[in-house]
Amino acid sequence: MDFPLFHLDLLGNRWLIAIIAITHVLINHGLAVGMMPLIAAMEWYGHRSQDARWDRLAYRILFVCFLITTTIGALTGVGIWFSVSLVNPYSIASLIRVFFWAWFAEWLVFITEVCLILAYTLTWKNWSTRGGKWKVRHIRLGFALALFSWITMAIIVAILGFMMDPGNWLTDHSFWIGVMNPLYLPQLAFRTPLAAAMAGIIAMFLVLFYTQRGDAFRYDALRAVSLWTLAFAPLVIIAGWWYYTSVPGAMKENLGVSLGTLEFADWQERFLQIAAATVITILLVVQFAIFRPKLLPRIALVIPFLSILWMTGHFERVREFIRKPYIIGRYMYANGIRVDDYALLQRDGVLKYATYSNPLSEAELAGIPDGLSEPERSAHLRAIQQGKDVFMITCSRCHSGHGSNSISGHLQRMFGDQPWTPDLTASYIENMHYAQPYMPPFPGSKAELRLLGRYLEHLQNNKAPIPGAQSVGVVVNRNLSTRTATHDH
Ligand code: HEC
Repeated sequence: MDFPLFHLDLLGNRWLIAIIAITHVLINHGLAVGMMPLIAAMEWYGHRSQDARWDRLAYRILFVCFLITTTIGALTGVGIWFSVSLVNPYSIASLIRVFFWAWFAEWLVFITEVCLILAYTLTWKNWSTRGGKWKVRHIRLGFALALFSWITMAIIVAILGFMMDPGNWLTDHSFWIGVMNPLYLPQLAFRTPLAAAMAGIIAMFLVLFYTQRGDAFRYDALRAVSLWTLAFAPLVIIAGWWYYTSVPGAMKENLGVSLGTLEFADWQERFLQIAAATVITILLVVQFAIFRPKLLPRIALVIPFLSILWMTGHFERVREFIRKPYIIGRYMYANGIRVDDYALLQRDGVLKYATYSNPLSEAELAGIPDGLSEPERSAHLRAIQQGKDVFMITCSRCHSGHGSNSISGHLQRMFGDQPWTPDLTASYIENMHYAQPYMPPFPGSKAELRLLGRYLEHLQNNKAPIPGAQSVGVVVNRNLSTRTATHDH
């Protein structure tokens, strides 16, 4: 509660992160981690068989990857930092405290990766013409690049696993225990062949652009890339199973709420079905590409391409889902409040510890009941202001006012047009973590529960978007200065 609250009321804060992060993952897995070893292998094969066509194809695919990874790939990578630190500075701050050296090492590895991809792309023609030792050296550069791409992923996956389930770190706050969290290795084992298979499918697609119809080389290339994909498919399944079975054991007990477990099981099952369907479709198309490449219509290659993007997208979504209501498993809720701070906040209220208040905009004031006396009106305004602050602190990381996953939409669905009185909403909110176990318990005091109820009642008559601190600024809370003053004495 020490940062101004950035908020996007239409898109929702979660979507900002999701769009940037999923784009990044798709590019990182499909065009870097999985593709670099495939390109290097293709270059190596061309060199061994002294067939320049493989070399040309490999270079063209590399060039596409080079353009996309160094632009959109790199920008979305940095974009994740910007978006998560805007939306949830508390969680990123906690993660930095634990993983400072991991991120530092990752930064060095990333810089190396960028230098290597520059060198690999830019020296390709020159070193190939020199031939002999230089070509071998160039191929080694390709495999080194592949290794460094994988290491960046391997470091980040440790942090992703930690956010889902920090495991023993909760009792022993040491770096390596955080890294070796229960989901790290299964997730890394799953993402590695997934990236390779994804690259194979994207490469099949690109082969069609860089080879001629009827050219025998097109079919050789398709077959080779299909075999690559096929080689990784069983690993995707085995590691996927490992990952799938690692998740529930660790998380079921914390969910603890029967409905949660049910919903969770439902998602798990659906994820498994999606994964199975994707793998089967991909295998079918790949089989075709191997055994009947001439019969394979171009459009058929779109299917595995879209399925793997779909599956990876879903995979990320499930990963996000099962972590709720936490942003860092059992340590910090998605509202940015640590589990350990709840007792204090529920006693004293969240407003007491909030450094900033999000002022109401002009548009947000519309809909105040008429005919109030001046003191009544200012008391009403104060309640709404405080209620808004409670909403912003406790709900706005996941809910918008009127946009995506909007609180007004939920209340409309639940209570319809009857007045959303504080009595009605507060009793729900008090128990919302039982009703919807992906939601954290309400962190504030009883009085704040009612203030939030007053604000939600106001939202029924006011459809103005809720502006974040980036557009209306903040007011520094006076409560806070009195609090610090008392602490000083
Ligand atoms: C961890 C993120 C998160 C936080 C924080 C959060 N919610 Fe939710 N809330 C959700 C999700 C996810 C849903 C379900 C959305 C869906 O079903 O599409 C939901 C649903 C709801 C619903 C509809 C419930 C139902 O049974 O259909 C209400 C009402 C609601 N939230 C109110 C609140 C209020 C009030 C707060 C703040 C005190 C809050 N939520 C905080 C994530 C959150």
